[in-house]
Amino acid sequence: MKIMFLGAPGAGKGTQAENVSASFNIPAISTGAIIRAAIKNGTEMGKAAKAYTETGALVPDEVVIGIIKERLAEEDCQNGYILDGFPRTVVQAEALDQMGIEMDIVVSIEVSDDDIVERMSGRRVCPACGASYHTKFIPTADGVHCDKCGAELTMRKDDAPDVVLSRLKVYHELTEPLKDYYQAKGKLKLVYGQEKVEDTTRLTLEAIKGNN
Ligand code: AP5
Repeated sequence: MKIMFLGAPGAGKGTQAENVSASFNIPAISTGAIIRAAIKNGTEMGKAAKAYTETGALVPDEVVIGIIKERLAEEDCQNGYILDGFPRTVVQAEALDQMGIEMDIVVSIEVSDDDIVERMSGRRVCPACGASYHTKFIPTADGVHCDKCGAELTMRKDDAPDVVLSRLKVYHELTEPLKDYYQAKGKLKLVYGQEKVEDTTRLTLEAIKGNN
């Protein structure tokens, strides 16, 4: 099973990818998470990517395509995977085609720009284990520490309001056209993001299973 999640920054791709990954027992691959880990570890790729992510710009196509090629060659991808945040441009989608990869389904999570801004301003992440929360929608037990590992939660630098607006602009210009790209291939399903995460998960699983 090969599943792709499209959607604006903060639409809930990562949250849904984790839930669907658990249901299908296939890995969720987030290019954003791979890039953030590289930045944290100070690798050459991370150093080159840092300035792009902090301003809300996309990391160059050739870098991200290289990351995905390496990741998909790993053992755990043999029975399928979920792509979260890749592709983000038509060039990246074409690279996937050239690799001979055909998705079973492409789910676009639809959320209005106003709701995106609210979600991003409330997002808190765990710097230790990577878990993601929301001050209002997915709060932790004490509102300060990670429920999974106890580390103190932080905000992502690219969740600053001005950067969120840049990311939304980039999404509408460069990534949203991918909906037409996958609609033309007959792969696209739209799922409208709900107030409650579990409601979006239910709709997402229905969309995926309807495709089996
Ligand atoms: P990336 O990490 O992929 O960022 P993104 O696409 O902007 O998406 P987010 O991780 O911000 O949001 P999400 O949709 O996963 O939402 P989430 O589930 O966290 O990329 C970061 C950067 O890396 C990019 O800007 C770019 O520079 C670079 N990059 C990555 N991939 C690239 C590529 N292919 N090409 C070039 N550059 C690339 O949810 C958001 C919040 O909402 C959370 O707080 C969550 O708890 C909450 N929430 C989720 N669902 C709900 C719900 N139903 N109701 C209420 N709240 C909810």
